[in-house]
Amino acid sequence: MHAPTKINAPAHQPNSFETYWSDAFPKVEGWVDARLAPWVQLIGSIQRDQNIRGNIGEIGVYHGKFLIALAHLSRPGEKVTAIDVFDDQEKNLDGAGVGSLERLRKNISAYAPTALDYEFIKADSIALTPVEKAKIMESRGPFRLFSVDGCHTAEHTFNDLLTAQDFLSPGGVLILDDFMQPHWPGVTEAVHNFYGRTVPRIKPFLYACHKLFFVGYGWHSTYFKAFAEQAQGRSDMRISSNFGSSVVTLYP
Ligand SMILES: C[S@@+](CC[C@H](N)C(=O)[O-])C[C@H]1O[C@@H](n2cnc3c(N)ncnc32)[C@H](O)[C@@H]1O
Repeated sequence: MHAPTKINAPAHQPNSFETYWSDAFPKVEGWVDARLAPWVQLIGSIQRDQNIRGNIGEIGVYHGKFLIALAHLSRPGEKVTAIDVFDDQEKNLDGAGVGSLERLRKNISAYAPTALDYEFIKADSIALTPVEKAKIMESRGPFRLFSVDGCHTAEHTFNDLLTAQDFLSPGGVLILDDFMQPHWPGVTEAVHNFYGRTVPRIKPFLYACHKLFFVGYGWHSTYFKAFAEQAQGRSDMRISSNFGSSVVTLYP
């Protein structure tokens, strides 16, 4: 009788997202909770499995901590767009971080995938005209991952939600920072206004580390089920109902 052959499981090879998160993420200044990593990665996997196409963008980039993470989920040929007032700081009404284009460029050259097409748009997001937004959509969109983290007033955030909703590709995810964050009540007020004053085409499916994640109506159950399955059994998880949608809520 032969002794059973011992089969060693192949060692996990970190992908570029995981390498960024463990090595460079702690060095890039910004406001992103490190516990978000598996949830952001799961969005990338769902989008790969479902063949969801589109580009990557953010309003309110600061030094690129979160945008670079999203860029590591990109596929060849995709575009990455950063919209920020950068050094035009009199337009940063509530001082939610002081952006710096120079610092952002340095971090992108040091830590982001280099083979992508990056564009830096210096703009006050609330002042973008419909024509300017249409140009961004045509040349840089649509977006499958779009983060909203600019000026945190209720007016700016409400406007940024409308902009980002229009920028999304089918199956694309809008990620809003600082929802239900006591220091930034304008963001929460904006989401209430978004659902109270408009008829949104997107629904929330995940709340984690003060970020609220939305997707188009037809895609909600795909994302919600995948996240509910992944988070099953966790003591910090509850399925809540927000604005009529089931949301996987991870807190604290
Ligand atoms: C909280 S920081 C963003 C943090 C960033 N997402 C990260 O990964 O660390 C907010 C950013 O929004 C920018 N900002 C402020 N007001 C803005 C506006 N009206 N339009 C566009 N960007 C704005 C600031 O310059 C700053 O870079």
